[in-house]
Amino acid sequence: MDTSWAVITGASAGLGVAFAEHLARGGANVLLAARRGDLLEEQAARLRSRHGVQAATRAVDLASASSRADFVDEVRSLQVHTLVNNAGFGSVGRFHELEADRVAREVSLDVGALTELSHAVAGPMIHRGRGAIINVASTAAFQPMPEMAVYAAAKGYVLQFTIALWEELHDTGVRAVAICPGPTHTDFFANAGDDGVLAQRRSPEQVVATTFAALERHQPFVVDGMRNRALAFANRFAPRSVQARVAKRVLRHS
Ligand SMILES: NC(=O)c1ccc[n+]([C@@H]2O[C@H](COP(=O)([O-])OP(=O)(O)OC[C@H]3O[C@@H](n4cnc5c(N)ncnc54)[C@H](OP(=O)(O)O)[C@@H]3O)[C@@H](O)[C@H]2O)c1
Repeated sequence: MDTSWAVITGASAGLGVAFAEHLARGGANVLLAARRGDLLEEQAARLRSRHGVQAATRAVDLASASSRADFVDEVRSLQVHTLVNNAGFGSVGRFHELEADRVAREVSLDVGALTELSHAVAGPMIHRGRGAIINVASTAAFQPMPEMAVYAAAKGYVLQFTIALWEELHDTGVRAVAICPGPTHTDFFANAGDDGVLAQRRSPEQVVATTFAALERHQPFVVDGMRNRALAFANRFAPRSVQARVAKRVLRHS
């Protein structure tokens, strides 16, 4: 019996559901994590019956270092061939007006949990000479974003961290890739506090297809979609102050 696993965080909704579906369709046993255990159970049951794989669930608050500690230890002890660090959230609004606790949880989930879980699997993957770490960044990673300041900075971390990891993992047989989706049809913007921004959106399935194509090509990062790619690279040579001003306009008017 296959005793290896793909671990997908944030698998109760949105992109995580599409990542889990793709991996299970390819025959992977999946371990699904998020807070809403009932939704995870529904996903797991669907994946078991549709693809005949093992599907386990863990209801865990990954934004809390103490709550996620046991899960991180469990992941460290499993044979994980693919880790998808997908759980994350953003906050739309002026920084000083956001709840302090929300800001702390955002950094802890988008940066802390992703880093700890990457650390938990990287050593064992190198030891086995294979594996993949998929970190979900964002096109927000490419410039400072007023009114999504913490989110863009956190995703900037995810992008830089993953590219550095990709280089460290070179020649080990282990791959790392940062996927940078632009606006995508999920609950993300409703959960971020403003579903009215960035209305042109792609599908989760498109994002997942882009991710695995990039992994296949051994790319360190990839931007999903032509339009997003163009926008992400358009302001590359502009001063950061100009990038920030443009990003603010795009957030409110696209
Ligand atoms: N949608 C976009 O436009 C977009 C664009 C660029 C990047 N992204 C990134 O894509 C990733 C997935 O987001 P999405 O678009 O699929 O949004 P979503 O529909 O809101 O899904 C977010 C997922 O993360 C989980 N999650 C949130 N807080 C959590 C916590 N404290 N502990 C454990 N799990 C938690 C949620 O599950 P529970 O609520 O059940 O915990 C859910 O499964 C995120 O990293 C996001 O930053 C999204």
